[in-house]
Amino acid sequence: EIPHVTLCVTCPDFEAAAKAVLPRKSYIYASGSANTGLSIKANLDDWGRINFRPRVMRNVGDIDTRRSIFGHSSPYPFYISPMGTLGAIHPGAEPEMVRGAVRKGAHMVVSTASTRGAQEIMQSYVEEQKRLNNASPTRLFYQYYMPVDRKKAIQLMHLVKEAGYKGLWITVDAPVLGKRTADRYLQAEEALAVGIEEEQPSEWESGHENTFAPAMGGRVASGQLSPHTTWEDLAWIRKEWDGPIVLKGIQCAEDAKLAYDYGLDGILLSNHGGRQIHTAPSALMTLCEIRTYCPEIIGKMEIFVDGGLRDGSDVLKALCLGATAVGVGRPFLYALAAYGSQGVERCVDVLAEELSTGMSLLGVTSLDQLKPEMVNASRLLNE
Ligand code: FNR
Repeated sequence: EIPHVTLCVTCPDFEAAAKAVLPRKSYIYASGSANTGLSIKANLDDWGRINFRPRVMRNVGDIDTRRSIFGHSSPYPFYISPMGTLGAIHPGAEPEMVRGAVRKGAHMVVSTASTRGAQEIMQSYVEEQKRLNNASPTRLFYQYYMPVDRKKAIQLMHLVKEAGYKGLWITVDAPVLGKRTADRYLQAEEALAVGIEEEQPSEWESGHENTFAPAMGGRVASGQLSPHTTWEDLAWIRKEWDGPIVLKGIQCAEDAKLAYDYGLDGILLSNHGGRQIHTAPSALMTLCEIRTYCPEIIGKMEIFVDGGLRDGSDVLKALCLGATAVGVGRPFLYALAAYGSQGVERCVDVLAEELSTGMSLLGVTSLDQLKPEMVNASRLLNE
């Protein structure tokens, strides 16, 4: 028995509900992180280590939380982060997540490692839009893992473009899979149970049945992803994809500046939800680094942030420091696990309400009024 969806009033409530319904293996897949977990801990802790500097008596009765991503307006400055293998989380998989997003007008980035194919997911989007007379501002973007084979890489890009995805989020923090500790324990346990002694090769992202864009006709394991990608590859990628490109997984100011110099449309400061490099910086830390070492790129390209955002107030802090919008991952996955698309809708509402309340209490009525001086990051930066 899980609580009624209306009893979820904060993001962490969805995790508790999901934990009660998910098979152990699926929960480990979703909640897992790299090594001893310091990267995910930094993500969750750092938002709480900076404080607001609220202004009072500012006539804040009328709040506007709208924000655009590459010209696509949304009622919110957050989107649903790409997460693979949602079929292990809910039988409706990615289409079920999409239906919740469309009903609320939230943007979503679809993972290359999705259970369902890119076209099928887009079809569920089109159908839900139709039910709403195409009134939802939701747009789908595509998270792109570079296949080793160049021909396949190009083919996938074209397929995604034709399907109607509005931008390419190229994940650059996963040339190889990080050490997913909880998955390792599970694999070792399973191997012992069937009497196999050698270590099993770890499957892509989890050990679930994983499909690499089934439209491409194959499964993918970690070794099939390209560790060979370099900045030079951006030239041919640009030729094949004429829409916006975001590099997902930028973790220092030098690479942020490099991305700007290469003419990227956007960067996503992210450590993959703490699932890749051990002791990664939180996205908040990287954003602060950019403010120090290359502040000139802020406002010149779209800057996204993800990892550990669990409250509308966290979203506000990111925007104060220069983020265009933020990605939220696990809370939406947990909401999907426990309540399907209804949970996804509820999770949007929870974040949106916290955001709007936070804006009133901070003394602003629209997101473009947010400024760096509205937060105090000294505790984070001086420790
Ligand atoms: C991810 N993430 C991810 N990123 C990506 O580029 N491609 C992918 O297929 C996946 N898959 C995936 C699965 C699961 C279960 C999780 C939790 C995460 C990373 C994701 O896009 C995002 O960076 C983080 O999830 C953001 O952190 P929070 O909000 O989950 O703390």
